[in-house]
Order: sequence, then structure tokens, then C-alpha cells
Amino acid sequence: MSATLQDIISHAKEYGFVFPSSEIYDGLQAVYDYGQNGVELKNNLKQVWWKAMTQLHDNIVGVDAAIFMHPLTWKASGHVDGFNDPMIDNKDSKKRYRADQLLEGKAEEYAAAGQQDKADALLQKMGELLSAEKLDEVRDLIIAEGITCPISKTSNWTEVRQFNLMFSTQVGSVAEDSSLIYLRPETAQGIFVNFLNVQKSGRMKVPFGIAQIGKAFRNEIVARQFTFRMREFEQMEMQFFVRPGSEMEWYEKWKETRMRFHKAIGLPAEKLKYHDHEKLAHYANAAVDIEFEFPFGFREIEGIHSRTDFDLRNHQELSKKKLQYFDPDLGEDGKAIGNYIPYVIETSVGADRMFLAAFCNAYTVETGEKERTYLKLHPALSPIKAAVLPLVKKDGLAEKAQEIAASLRLHFRTVYDEGGAIGKRYTRQDLIGTPFCIAVDYETMENNTVTIRHRDSMEQERVPIDQLKEKIGYAVDF
Ligand code: GAP
Repeated sequence: MSATLQDIISHAKEYGFVFPSSEIYDGLQAVYDYGQNGVELKNNLKQVWWKAMTQLHDNIVGVDAAIFMHPLTWKASGHVDGFNDPMIDNKDSKKRYRADQLLEGKAEEYAAAGQQDKADALLQKMGELLSAEKLDEVRDLIIAEGITCPISKTSNWTEVRQFNLMFSTQVGSVAEDSSLIYLRPETAQGIFVNFLNVQKSGRMKVPFGIAQIGKAFRNEIVARQFTFRMREFEQMEMQFFVRPGSEMEWYEKWKETRMRFHKAIGLPAEKLKYHDHEKLAHYANAAVDIEFEFPFGFREIEGIHSRTDFDLRNHQELSKKKLQYFDPDLGEDGKAIGNYIPYVIETSVGADRMFLAAFCNAYTVETGEKERTYLKLHPALSPIKAAVLPLVKKDGLAEKAQEIAASLRLHFRTVYDEGGAIGKRYTRQDLIGTPFCIAVDYETMENNTVTIRHRDSMEQERVPIDQLKEKIGYAVDF
């Protein structure tokens, strides 16, 4: 039975993964808080990404740049002028929509009715009008296509306006002294402005990469689908600096490497696919998305972009600081290649989207004889790795179980639970995805062995206590 998004949202809330932000005040749209299990799962995801992107590469290092950046950063990056969504309002319902999404919805309708040619033509027309900033004609197209507001059912539309997605705020205590700054809409720029600092202080040689995990903010107007599109979210980005001319080779490499990563954390191949971009972002000369099949369809979880020297060149121009690399290697003419602005391949994945993908994929409902619901998470991602459960509280079993839990806790997240029938306790752990339950029984008191109950197969195996650390430690490592 496939889960609906509502099943996912309910499970995430009931078992301490994700709560609506400020829920006692009825929440804040497109903002979410991670609960006691959610924060562990998300931290684990960030850790495996960090390991895969930095620890496993000799030539990739990390940074942690500030969220606030000099306002010129966003001029150079193109976000002040180009980071817009075309919005249109319905005059009757007073609801605001993204004009491109209204047209894409219409194209989907055509495609679903077998009119693929019409769908393609509409998308092509839309792409042309938007790139040429012909916003009046975008509105005319919406009206000509008979697109109505889902609420008022009328086509009484306003003009189309560009709406910048960056949040801004003031720095400085008094209005006269303050200056306008933005909350970063992507973490990438914190890497670009530190390119030379890292290259010089780390004596990095092209090709090399800089990775970062951090918050980003976008004033998403159409915010839906749970943590898929949030106003405050986290990105895990890596900028890989390469010699101009070699970018396509690296683009292909990173495309494959990142797909392998998603499979390695347990997302099945049939739920993943590439989607090449027809419409490129303002900074890219090639771009592909890795999409995952959510309950609401295939959607982007990660973008891999060939950003050319767009960012470094613009920062060099606006900052008047040289952002060049001296390449000591010899060219075909036998001379040192010399100075150039490196080209960049970017890999950019949302931690919250990856969380949602891992969570949706793990949510399993088994029916029939062994009816149960559990989270089939990769053990490296599970919030809790082991639960130690005494069969009964008396005869020293509770103390023995606590002793085992205390020793395992030093190596991985372990909980102790003595409340209720053992079957109920297994269920509690299944629901949050704990891969191993360790039962302490009377035999434990005689020969220092316990049973490990495996979450997915529900099989039990008897093992000596002194093998637990190694056995479980190995399974939960990434
Ligand atoms: N630096 C490039 C960049 O930011 P993007 O395609 O706009 O590219 C990259 O974003 C990734 O960040 C997306 O694939 C997605 O996983 C995540 N992301 C973007 N906007 C998001 C939002 N509003 N909520 C959650 N995740 C988001």
C-alpha cells in the first residue's frame, strides 16, 4: 500500500520527527521544526553527506560561512536582479499564484489528455516569454488558455509581476545608520567569496572543492508539500573549482557520484532519475536535477550545475579583488598555464528535501498476518541505533539491561526502555526506525548473551554481550 503525503505528515508529527513551527499559534506557513527524532535523522543525513563529500576526498575541504553577507554579494551573484518568480493575483479570490506554475499545470493537463504536442508548445512559448521578460504576454497566455483560479473559478487576473524571493532586513540600531542586507538564499556565495582564502591558506590545487552545510532563506510564495518547499531550509552545497575547458568532464563525474550517494543511503534506483534542465538558471551553462519519487510525484532533490566562472568573475568585478588562480602545470606549449578564473561545478542538495525523501522511502506499512508500520531507514540514518529492553524488571534484569545500555551509549545512540509488554516496546522502536532491539532475559543472567531483534526481518539472534558494540557499530556505520 503506498503512503499518501498526509500519512507521512501524521507519522512525522506523532513520533517526534517534524512539527509545524509555532504550532500553539496555529503554525507559520512553510516553516517547520524538527523534533527529538527528526533532529537525529537530519543530523545523520548531514553527517553522511559531510563524510562523503569531504572525508572521502583528499581535495575537498569544508567551510562554515555567515548567513549575513555584504549586500554586493547578491548583486554580483545575480540574485538582486534575477532571483524572481513571476506572480499573478486573482482579483476575485485575492489569491496569488506563480504564473509559470499555472501554465505548467495546463501543460500537464494537455499531456494527461494525450496532447503532448500542445503541452510542449505551451511550455516552449512560456519559456520564451519569461526569458524575454514579456510579462504582459504571459498574462495574455494565461487568459487565452482559459486558466481559472482554483478558488474563485474566474479568470479575472491582475498583471504579472516579478517578485524577488530574498528576505531582507536591516543591520544597525538606528534607522539612519542601518543598511539593507539579505538573508542568504543559497549557501554557495559564502564559498565563492572565500575561494582565495581557502585556496591560499590550504595550498589547494585546482581541481579542488569547498563544501558547506547551512541555512538558506527564500520567500517562497507557493509553499506546499510539507518540508519540500520551505521558507527557511538547509542546503548542503559543494563548489568544485576546475580548469576552464574541463568542466563538462567534471560535470559528468559529479552527476554520477551524486546519484551513487542517494542509492548508498537507501533510496531505490527505481525511485530516482535525472532531469535535464531546458530552462537554465542565470548562472549555469548546463544543469541537471536528481529527482526522487515522492508521494506527489517525481521532484528535484538535488541540482548539479555547471556555473562557469560566472560567480567568481562577477565578484572580482564588484570587489575589485583578483580572484584568480595560478596554475603551475605546463600547457601544450611547455609553459606554465598561469592565471585564470576557475570554472565551477556545483552540487546542491537540500537537507530537508533529503530528509523527506529518506522518510517517505522508509515509511512501510505491512498488512496481513504481520500487520505493522515501521521505518525502514538505512541504519546509519536511524535516530536511535539500539534499544535495550529487559524482559521483566525484576531479578536483576533491569539493572543488567541498564548496564548494557550505558556501555553501548558511548559508541552510538542507545536507549533503555522497560515500560510495557516487550511486543509493544518493539513496536515503539519500529515506528521510529530503530534497527536493533536488544532483549535481556533470564538466559542473559546465566551466560551473558542477549537476543538482537532485527527491525526489517523481525528475526532474532542470540549473541554474546561483548560482541554487541562491534556488531551493531559496524552495521550503523556509513
Ligand atoms: N546554489 C544553487 C541552488 O541553490 P537550487 O536548485 O535553487 O540551487 C538547490 O537549490 C537545492 O536546495 C534544491 O535541489 C533543493 O533540494 C533545495 N531547496 C531549494 N529551495 C528549497 C526550499 N524552498 N525548501 C527546501 N529545499 C529547497
